[in-house]
Amino acid sequence: MHTVRTVILGCGGYLPERVLTNHDLAKMIDTSDRWITERTGIKERRIAAEGELTSSMGAAAARAAIADAGLVPDDIDLIILATSTPDQTFPASAVTIQAELGITHGAAFDMQAVCSGFVFALATADSHLKAGLFKRALVVGAEAFSRILDWEDRSTCVLFGDGAGAVVVEAQKLNGAMTDRGILATCLRSDGRYRDKLYVDGGPSSTGTVGHVRMDGPEVFRHAVTKISEVIDATLTQAGYNASDIDWFVPHQANKRILDGAAKKLGLDPARIIITVDKHANTSAASIPLALSTARADGRIKTGDLVLLEAMGGGFTWGAVLLRW
Ligand code: ACO
Repeated sequence: MHTVRTVILGCGGYLPERVLTNHDLAKMIDTSDRWITERTGIKERRIAAEGELTSSMGAAAARAAIADAGLVPDDIDLIILATSTPDQTFPASAVTIQAELGITHGAAFDMQAVCSGFVFALATADSHLKAGLFKRALVVGAEAFSRILDWEDRSTCVLFGDGAGAVVVEAQKLNGAMTDRGILATCLRSDGRYRDKLYVDGGPSSTGTVGHVRMDGPEVFRHAVTKISEVIDATLTQAGYNASDIDWFVPHQANKRILDGAAKKLGLDPARIIITVDKHANTSAASIPLALSTARADGRIKTGDLVLLEAMGGGFTWGAVLLRW
C-alpha cells in the first residue's frame, strides 16, 4: 500500500549576534547566574538587534533550510510561520518572508500556538501536503520575544531569547510502513481554561497595545511534565513505537528541569535528548527548529533516525510529532 508522507529535506537556523549572559542580567535586575542556572539550565540567550525583525530572522533561517535541502525558493509553495511576535498585527509575517524570498506563488500564513507553534505548524503542513494541496512547504519558527518582555520582571525576562529555525518538507509517495521516512504521527492539544497561566497582557482587540509576557511559573511547571508525557505516549502509541525506539528526543527548550522531568517519566535515555536551552534560552516557536538545525549541523541526527518533537506553551497548547529523518 502506498501513502503520502511529509519528508524533511533540510533545516536551518538563525541567531542574532548579541549574546546576553546571566551575568549581564544580574547587572540589570535582582537575579544571579546561580538562580537562573539551577532553576532553568539557561546560561545565555540571544537578543535581536535594533531593526532586526521576526520576519528577517525567519527569512535567514528559511534561506539556510532551503540551501540545506538543495533547493531554490521557487520550489516552495507553502510557508507557515509559527510566531507570537509578528512584525505587525497584520499582514502575517509569513508573507513578508515569502516576499523576501522572492516567492510569488502558493500561500503563506502565520500560526499562533505560542511555544507549541512549531509543532502545530509542522502538523498543519503535514495535513496540507498529505491532502495534495501543496508539494513543498517551508515551516518556520521565528520569535523576537525580547520585544514583549517586561525587563523589570525577573520572573519572566530571564527565561526567553530571540532566534529562528526552519525546515523544508516535501510530500513523497512511500510504502506506508512505519519504517518510511517522514512524519509518522502527530498529536495536537489545547485547553483554554489555562489561558491566564501564561499570556501577554495586551492585544489589538483588548488594550490596543502589544503587552508583556505574564506567567504563573509554578503552575506552568506543574502542568508541563504531565501534559507533555501524555501527548508523547499518545503519539508513540499512534505509530506503534516505544520510548526506547527513539533515536533523538527534540523537545521545546523551555527549561531543563521540565525536559529532564518529562524524559524521566517516559524512561528516555538522557543522552538522546537534544538540549540547546543553555545557549538559546526559551525562543518559543523557534526553539525546536533551532535545536534540529544544531543537531543536524553537529552530525547527531542522521537520515533514518527516529525523532520525537514535543512542545507545550501558552493556552495551554501542547503537542508532539514523531518522524523518521
Ligand atoms: N532571580 C532570582 N530570584 C527569582 C527570580 C530570578 N530571576 N525569579 C523569581 N525569583 C524568586 C521569586 O521572587 C521567589 O522569591 P520569594 O520566595 O522570596 O517569593 C523565588 O525566586 C521562587 O519563585 P518561584 O516562582 O516559586 O520559583 P520556581 O522555583 O517555581 O522557579 C520558574 C521559577 C523557573 C519560572 C519555574 O516555575 C518554571 O520553570 N516554570 C515553568 C515556566 C516555563 O518554563 N515557562 C516557559 C514558557 S512555558 C513553556 O514553554 C513550557
